[in-house]
Amino acid sequence: MKRAFITGVEGQDGSYLAELLLAKNYEVHGIIRASTSGNTANLCHLKADPQVFRKTLFLYSADLEDADSIRTPLEQCAPDEIYHLASQSHVGQSFEKVEETCRITGLGTLRLLEMTRKLPKAPRFFHASSSEIFGSPETSPQDEITPIAPITPYGAAKAFGTQMTRIYRKNFGLFAVNGILFNHESPRRGENFVSRKICRAVAMIKAGRQAELVLGDTTAQRDWGHACDYVRGMWLALQHLVPEDYVFATGRVHRVQDIVELAFQAVDLEARKFVRQEQQFFRPTDPRQVVGNAAKAQQILGWRPEITFEETIAEMVRFELQALGV
Ligand code: GDD
Repeated sequence: MKRAFITGVEGQDGSYLAELLLAKNYEVHGIIRASTSGNTANLCHLKADPQVFRKTLFLYSADLEDADSIRTPLEQCAPDEIYHLASQSHVGQSFEKVEETCRITGLGTLRLLEMTRKLPKAPRFFHASSSEIFGSPETSPQDEITPIAPITPYGAAKAFGTQMTRIYRKNFGLFAVNGILFNHESPRRGENFVSRKICRAVAMIKAGRQAELVLGDTTAQRDWGHACDYVRGMWLALQHLVPEDYVFATGRVHRVQDIVELAFQAVDLEARKFVRQEQQFFRPTDPRQVVGNAAKAQQILGWRPEITFEETIAEMVRFELQALGV
């Protein structure tokens, strides 16, 4: 039985990855950030399963800023594979919490790499990097050799973690991989990310519990996929013979406005009657031309996204309606 260690297991990606690995007969050890230990909604079904919880799934409360709190479960677990997903992952908030973002997202990654290197038998290491490392790139689509040129504090912190992962691979011989993940969504997305914010608001408006949806820049464009496809990519990346970096993306661009329209259409409401924009949700800088080329992941790992943008938004709206009993 293989053992996996996941940081950020309570998040969208962490919870889907835990399910995937449990289904592959892994023993899964997951770190939940100490300050958010109460918020494990994404893991409720696994915690409620007596065949799984504390049998093949083990959870620990720890903090990337506190090395000892991570080291103890990491050494106990002695994993074959580490999936490092934890971070301060909200780009907008990274402008308010610049130092905190760099400490958790940047230094936290370095700390974990260093601990990994010192384990008696170094496990394989996956770092969840981000399309934000490219900033507003001059070439489209972006791939593994697109220059790193972040324009947000979050992007800079991820760039540091990405480069450190490469340095530990080249200099210390660690099987360390960056998955350069473009946006990926699901019903488990945090509520302050735009896709979930929209789908949730649409359901609330349909239920008569909310009057309007207030957004930032609705012309902003992203390459949006589904989280389940991306966690499958993470696993595949660690099964390959040699460690490499991979872009995971759909190669298709949509606007925030496209999510708005799809979500309102799904409940037979006219978006323009309920949506307005407000300055507080605009970002000081926001990457443009973000679209990924996942040809390398496709060629080497046989990875390709299976769930479309339209299916993802439809699933998210359905989930929100069900949660409200509409
Ligand atoms: N959150 C949010 N809220 N975003 C808004 C809003 C709003 O009200 N209105 C417009 N947007 C725009 C943002 O300015 C951005 O251009 C786009 O919607 C997507 O924003 P988010 O959903 O917050 O995601 P992100 O692109 O900033 O970052 C996500 O994707 C990265 C790449 O995969 C996060 O998951 C990052 O952690 C991840 O690295």
